[in-house]
Amino acid sequence: MAFLADSLSRIKPSATIAVTNKARELKAAGRDVIGLGAGEPDFDTPDNIKEAAIKAIRDGKTKYTAVDGIPELKAAIVGKFKRENHLDYSIDEITVGTGGKQVLYNALMATLNPGDEVIVPAPYWVSYPEMVALGGGTPVEVPTTQASGYKISPAALDKAITAKTKWVIFNSPSNPSGAAYTRAELKALTDVLMRHPHVWVLTDDMYEHLVYDGFVYTTVAEVEPGLKDRTLTVNGVSKAYAMTGWRIGYAGGPKHLIKAIATIQSQSTSNPSSISQWAAVEALNGPQDFIPKFAEAFRQRRDLVVSMLNQANGIVCPRPEGAFYVFPSCAGTIGRKTAGGKKIATDEDFVTALLEEEGVAVVQGSAFGLAPFFRISYATSDRVLEDACGRIQRFCAGMR
Ligand SMILES: Cc1ncc(COP(=O)(O)O)c(C=O)c1O
Repeated sequence: MAFLADSLSRIKPSATIAVTNKARELKAAGRDVIGLGAGEPDFDTPDNIKEAAIKAIRDGKTKYTAVDGIPELKAAIVGKFKRENHLDYSIDEITVGTGGKQVLYNALMATLNPGDEVIVPAPYWVSYPEMVALGGGTPVEVPTTQASGYKISPAALDKAITAKTKWVIFNSPSNPSGAAYTRAELKALTDVLMRHPHVWVLTDDMYEHLVYDGFVYTTVAEVEPGLKDRTLTVNGVSKAYAMTGWRIGYAGGPKHLIKAIATIQSQSTSNPSSISQWAAVEALNGPQDFIPKFAEAFRQRRDLVVSMLNQANGIVCPRPEGAFYVFPSCAGTIGRKTAGGKKIATDEDFVTALLEEEGVAVVQGSAFGLAPFFRISYATSDRVLEDACGRIQRFCAGMR
C-alpha cells in the first residue's frame, strides 16, 4: 500500500519557490546571485499597521477568533469593497483566511467535484492549476499570446466553456504577465459569461492597487452586476500593504459559498492570526496615502526593466499595465549557444544557463503555462535591477 496520497501525484511543487530556494542556496555558497524570482514587495510594512499589531498583542487580542474573521475586519472589508470597487457586500458575505492563497484554496475545495472543469487563462499564477487538480477538478488552460497583451479573448473564453465548466479564474493585474483588463475588455468577457449561467467567476484581485499610467482598475462584479451572485471577489493585504508575511487574505461572495468556505477552514486551520487580523483592520481603515507612492516606485522600475530588456539580443518585453512582473519572450535565443557553451532549446534552458553563467535568478514561462518566456519580479531596488538587466544583456550578447 502506498504511503503518500494519490492526490500528491497530481501536483508539482511551486516553481517560483524552487527558484527562490536555488538562488538562496547559491548565495549561501558564496556566489554573487541576484534573485528576481520572488513575488513580494521589497518595502517594509507601514508603521501604523505594525503599531496596530503591537497594540493588539498588548491588549490581549491573542486568543482564537471567529473562524473566518473578526467582525471588525469583516466590517473594514465591507468598507473597502464599497469605497474602492463600488460593491455592496454584507458582513455575512465576507470571509477572511490565512492569505489570499488559502481563500482561493478553500473556495476550490468547497466546490469542486471530480470532472469539474476550471478555465485558467495562461500564463497563470502557478498555484491555480495545482489547486484545481488537488481538489479533483480538471484545469483547462487557455493560452494567450504576447501580441494580445497576454489577455484572453471573448471568443477563446466562449470556446473553452463546456457543460462541465464550474469556474473561470481571472487575475488582473496578472502574476506573471502584469497584464490588466480595461473595463471594456472585461465587459466583453462578462458578456460571454452572462450567456453561460452555470459558470462561476473566481476573480483574484490581489494586485488591484499596482496599476500604472492612469490605468483605471475594475473588477468583474463591478463591471457586470449580473454576475455578482456567482462571483467570488478575492483580495488581500499582502501586495498592496507590503504585508506578505502577515498572511491575511479575504473574499466577498454569495452567502452559501462563504459559509462553505468557513466550514473547510473550521476543519483545517481555523482562524487566521488574531494579531494579523487587527493589523489588517488598520491597513484597510487607516491612511492609504503610501499606496500611490509604492505604485510610483514600481512604475519607474517597470520602465527601467522594460527598456533594458528590450536592448538585450533575442528578448522582447512588452510594457504591462500593472503588478510588479514583466513577462518577456526569449524566443529569439532558442536554438543558440551561450558563452559558456550551453545550447538553449527551451525557456528552462535559458533560465538555468542565466543563473549558472550570470547569477540572475528568474522563472521560466513554462512554469506559468506559456513558453518560451520568463518572468522577472521587479520588486527590488533600481540598483539591483540595473545590475541584473545588464547581466541579462551581456548573457544574450554572448550567445552564438
Ligand atoms: C496572483 C496571486 N494570487 C494570490 C496570491 C497569494 O497571496 P497571499 O496568500 O499572500 O495573500 C499571490 C501571491 O503571490 C498571487 O501572486
